[in-house]
Amino acid sequence: LKAVVQVGAGELTSSLVLRDIPTPEAPAGGNVIIDVDLAAVHHGDLFRARKVASLPPGTAYLTRGSEAVGRIRAIGRDVAHSSDLRVGQRVTAFLAPYAWAEHVECPAALVFPAPDDIPDTIAAQLFVNAATAFMVLRAIRESLEARSVTDGVVLLTGASTAVARLLAHLLREAGVETIGLTRSEAAAVRTGRLVPGVRYVAQESVDWLSALERAAGGRAFVALGDCVSGALLTQLSPLIANGATVVTYGGLDPHPVGLTGLDLASRGLELRGIPVFPWLDMTAAEKQADISAALALARAHPALFPAAGAYRLEDWREAIVAVETPGREGFVFLKPR
Ligand SMILES: NC(=O)c1ccc[n+]([C@@H]2O[C@H](COP(=O)([O-])OP(=O)(O)OC[C@H]3O[C@@H](n4cnc5c(N)ncnc54)[C@H](OP(=O)(O)O)[C@@H]3O)[C@@H](O)[C@H]2O)c1
Repeated sequence: LKAVVQVGAGELTSSLVLRDIPTPEAPAGGNVIIDVDLAAVHHGDLFRARKVASLPPGTAYLTRGSEAVGRIRAIGRDVAHSSDLRVGQRVTAFLAPYAWAEHVECPAALVFPAPDDIPDTIAAQLFVNAATAFMVLRAIRESLEARSVTDGVVLLTGASTAVARLLAHLLREAGVETIGLTRSEAAAVRTGRLVPGVRYVAQESVDWLSALERAAGGRAFVALGDCVSGALLTQLSPLIANGATVVTYGGLDPHPVGLTGLDLASRGLELRGIPVFPWLDMTAAEKQADISAALALARAHPALFPAAGAYRLEDWREAIVAVETPGREGFVFLKPR
């Protein structure tokens, strides 16, 4: 079967290759095999591939990708006894490195039914982005509640991204005043259309820090949902309220976090990182509640999940370039079949 796999370290153009790898014949006990229809290309996939310094000894390649929609081709013996998953069922699989391939074998615990009314382009990006947004939202709320902050403005950096769009929508629904900071003016306008009722300021505009301050009515931000981080936090530092939590879930700016130890210590600022993977450790009931909430979000607001293009596995390089090209208007996918 054809798969985009990692065979080395360094630049992705040389460390990734399209390769024929063995087709799984029968799934292991707790696993399922899925025929992949559409796989997301997440920033996190690229980040994880770039972070690899060398392949573990004895490993010929690492499978890549982390979220895909498709149909179940085969079910392991233990799964058949313990779950409602069945052959032919349309499902989304997520949060394990595997999806950039024609077929994947993965643990049934990472596989959730994909209802037929959710299109592939939404089902293949839904759960990673929604689960991350839910976790960041919880962290922001915990921080506000711990400090008994009942009003104030929350700032979202990288506001044109898929996760930040969901966060802006969820914060608005929760009645939390929110401002989104985008890189470009075009992104501010585009995102403002997708999430009306939230104000957006672009870093491209002249004197954008003053514009941001004015948009917040001169109030310092009581919390940040941050996926840019890096040097941007140095610039934003004067606008962050004492005691505020910077909830960082991404690093679109690859440079070190721009807050000094004195910023944190003297002002009681908290820096909290949110990876999505601990989502898997939540209880079954909590996970099911998030899955249901994500599906409800997709049904009620499909425009929050735009797609920018689907590329054949052979064209994986173009897909990666597309992910990192400024001004993109939606998610990028690989379409293996
Ligand atoms: N914690 C987790 O487990 C988790 C899970 C999902 C995502 N993430 C992270 O969240 C971040 C966003 O991911 P996503 O999938 O939501 O993004 P996305 O939808 O792919 O959005 C990418 C957009 O971000 C904007 N952007 C790129 N670099 C930027 C920068 N330096 N400053 C401001 N905006 C920038 C660009 O918009 P313009 O070109 O229009 O400016 C680009 O089109 C990434 O860092 C990703 O790794 C983390």
